[in-house]
Amino acid sequence: MLYNILVHTHSGLRWIVLILLLAAIVTAFRKWQGRDEYTPGNNKLYLFALIATHTQFTIGLILYFLSPKVPLFDGIDFGTIMKTAIYRFYSVEHIVGMLIAVVLITIGRSKSRRISGPVQKHRTVFMFYGLGLLAILISIPWPFRIPGAGWF
Ligand code: HEM
Repeated sequence: MLYNILVHTHSGLRWIVLILLLAAIVTAFRKWQGRDEYTPGNNKLYLFALIATHTQFTIGLILYFLSPKVPLFDGIDFGTIMKTAIYRFYSVEHIVGMLIAVVLITIGRSKSRRISGPVQKHRTVFMFYGLGLLAILISIPWPFRIPGAGWF
């Protein structure tokens, strides 16, 4: 029951994460290139993109312990997990890719707050959020890549 709610939330929230990150990256790129100011609105967009990513990460962490696609805690030996594509994807590849993404986005956010100058702030967000989004796109179980995965 809790598992079903979390899987659907986790699956749907991906779109909010992707849209907010994309909006942040496009904004950061345009404002960096335009040598524009750093407005409270920009700050809010960058913050919301970070919060959505962290929320998604937290739900994923809970799913890691509940999902039958991560049999690490069911006494199955690690060799079998690594030899079974679907187990390996969710037990290792998905979590490592997303961990890298979240670290990049979190560093980008805190660096952009500490650094001075609007152009430098926007550029920092663009670089780190951009790399983070790339890691997320690579690590999402897209239905055309991972059997049993859904679009929503
Ligand atoms: C922050 C970026 C993340 C994104 C965008 C993301 C996205 C997704 C998507 C789209 C699915 C497929 C759901 C479906 O089949 O309908 C999924 C499944 C899953 N994710 Fe994530 N995820 C993220 C982070 C994480 C993290 C950090 C973990 C673990 C610590 C995790 C654990 C899982 C698990 C275990 C499943 C399989 C659930 C199941 O079907 O049993 N995710 N994720």
